[in-house]
Amino acid sequence: MTEVTGTASRKADHIRINLEEDVRSGLTTGLERLRFIHQALPERSLADVDSSVTWFGKRLSAPLLISSMTGGTDEAHRLNQTLAQAAQAAGIAMGLGSQRAAVENPSLAFTFQVRNVAPDILLFANLGAVQLNYGYGLDQCRRAVDMIQADALILHLNALQEAVQPEGDANFSGLLGRIEAICRALPVPVIAKEVGWGFSEQVARQLAEAGVSAIDVAGAGGTSWSQVEMHRAKTATQRRVAAAFIDWGIPTAEAIQNVRRAAPHLPVIASGGLRDGIDVAKCIALGAGLGGLASPFLKAAAVSVEAVSETIGELSRELRIAMFASGAGTIAELQATPLLPAP
Ligand SMILES: Cc1cc2nc3c(=O)[nH]c(=O)nc-3n(C[C@H](O)[C@H](O)[C@H](O)COP(=O)(O)O)c2cc1C
Repeated sequence: MTEVTGTASRKADHIRINLEEDVRSGLTTGLERLRFIHQALPERSLADVDSSVTWFGKRLSAPLLISSMTGGTDEAHRLNQTLAQAAQAAGIAMGLGSQRAAVENPSLAFTFQVRNVAPDILLFANLGAVQLNYGYGLDQCRRAVDMIQADALILHLNALQEAVQPEGDANFSGLLGRIEAICRALPVPVIAKEVGWGFSEQVARQLAEAGVSAIDVAGAGGTSWSQVEMHRAKTATQRRVAAAFIDWGIPTAEAIQNVRRAAPHLPVIASGGLRDGIDVAKCIALGAGLGGLASPFLKAAAVSVEAVSETIGELSRELRIAMFASGAGTIAELQATPLLPAP
């Protein structure tokens, strides 16, 4: 119970810090160093640009994901309901935050459940992969998926976050084999995800060989979890240790290319520092299939459903205009559109 209470209060801290403090990485995504070749003569109507995609059998109006964030508290419940209503209205995907609190205390399950307002969306459950080294197995993974009627399970890899947390679970030994066992036995697809430091080519290859169905790169350039933990630190030493990692990680643009090289056919979700539809378009041109954002959606959800819908609307419009002005009529065409290094 103490543990569950601890998890819930950590979640509340995370929301507050992400809303109130500057927690940006010292790195940039690398997307700013890439540009499309402008097509002065697109030879199609903007109205004919089709940004829809199909993921795990579900059709999305645009390749957009509200990245995994929260659950476990009343405030998190409100945020999840707000995000899910806007996701349902727009026809985009959404992930829930780590469901560990509710796996350990089923009375918290309602804070993660959004099918009441979002019956049709592509929905991702979420657990920390490291929990597989702390007593979790197939049963807990199934419970996380069933609890929210998810279409897939995200196992997040947050080694650095756990390491800088005083209460962190930092034993990552032998985890790959356990992830492989879950991929083999779970009836829904498993997605491996970072939380803001990206994947190297080697780790992407190991995860692909372990049988994950997709990788969410969650690269560096956006929310930095060492910065979040710095704001939670109780002592000057904890604060300095966390602060030292402000520039750590593999920028999002590089991480996407790493995964593409390691596993050319594995679906890729791009996230980490994406802030407009042009960022999403560039990630897709690098080979990703979906673009995820966390922090911008959290800030909008703290305001209203309408604010989240407006954010989705702007992202979709920017993405569609970027497609139009770079000559791509579909997401498949965008994936084959070249990017140049910015001068
Ligand atoms: C408030 C908050 C809570 C988060 N909680 C989780 C989580 O439980 N599981 C997870 O996989 N990622 C979590 N993340 C990480 C995001 O999904 C994302 O990978 C990261 O924030 C980078 O995206 P951004 O730069 O758009 O914020 C969280 C992010 C935020 C802002």
